[in-house]
Amino acid sequence: MTPLLELRGMRLTLPSGGRERAVVHRVDLAVPPGGALGLVGESGSGKSLTARAVLRLLPGGARVAGEVLFDGEPVTGMSPARLRRLRTHDVAMIFQDPRAHINPVRTVGDFLTEALITARGVRPRAATATVTALLREVGIADAPRRLRQRPSELSGGLLQRVMIAAALAGEPRLLLADEPTTALDVTTQAEVMAIVAEARAERGLALLFITHDLALAAAVCDRICVMYAGSTVEDLPAGRLREHAAHPYTRALLASRPDLGDADRPLRAIAGRPLSGFEVAGGCAFAPRCPDVRDVCRADRPEPRVCGEHVAACHFAEEPR
Ligand SMILES: Nc1ncnc2c1ncn2[C@@H]1O[C@H](COP(=O)(O)OP(=O)(O)O)[C@@H](O)[C@H]1O
Ligand SMILES: [Mg+2]
Repeated sequence: MTPLLELRGMRLTLPSGGRERAVVHRVDLAVPPGGALGLVGESGSGKSLTARAVLRLLPGGARVAGEVLFDGEPVTGMSPARLRRLRTHDVAMIFQDPRAHINPVRTVGDFLTEALITARGVRPRAATATVTALLREVGIADAPRRLRQRPSELSGGLLQRVMIAAALAGEPRLLLADEPTTALDVTTQAEVMAIVAEARAERGLALLFITHDLALAAAVCDRICVMYAGSTVEDLPAGRLREHAAHPYTRALLASRPDLGDADRPLRAIAGRPLSGFEVAGGCAFAPRCPDVRDVCRADRPEPRVCGEHVAACHFAEEPR
């Protein structure tokens, strides 16, 4: 089956001081139709740029190499008209900070109906009926009142629901969710993720869920793809994460957070600091922090290799632990 979204050897450079700097070195990932993939990594690892590369919403001067395919079609080869359609019909995106992506002086109703009216030619009255139904779908019962309000009158959790409603309005096949719950408190976070899960089940929507929270990703997604310093380093089924992670970085991430099921396990911080893609030299980017590092790791960058149900970019991924 053709993946709905596939990135193969995606590399991204940004101009800096008159030369090109690679910030994303190598991203390989796939989201099947209706599936959910969690893209997990520390801040600065290149997750947001990866998501933006899918829609070609990148900073000026950014250059993408490798393959970015939507339903088998290269995004890089799309005409302006096809790209507009990709952004308005095929793929929707939600962000960490909804307030940065909504006009503060216009009403929620204008924001929600505008895309339907301008991009799809829906009549205003019909558009209002559609968004009212969408707000109900995302758990906002008093839609008529909310549609008249401005963003500043809504809490962060409510506003994120409005953003999900806006995303669903285009009837996309893929939702790119870039840390959609990071700014929310834990109970609101759970509500928002439940709404996304419900919308996915009802609509067969595929999800690329970007987060720094490995456990949250594992709870929501079928597969997990771990990113470090501009490269994906392990891709595995979510159910294998806790016991069978093959890459030392994935295991270090797991060991660095509390586990409610095992209160006796000591927490271990990862030594050193995370690197951004442009700081990576030769060898494995994780070598300076890796507890299992050997000479070859500093000399040769490991290629991703398939080990059973995993893909791991580690020279020793196949070794029993
Ligand atoms: N517009 C930009 N100009 C220059 N550098 C950028 C820009 N956007 C992101 N970067 C750099 O690229 C790296 C990856 O960024 P990003 O994809 O936002 O990481 P993440 O989402 O994983 O935190 C970071 O080091 C960041 O500073
Ligand atoms: Mg980000």
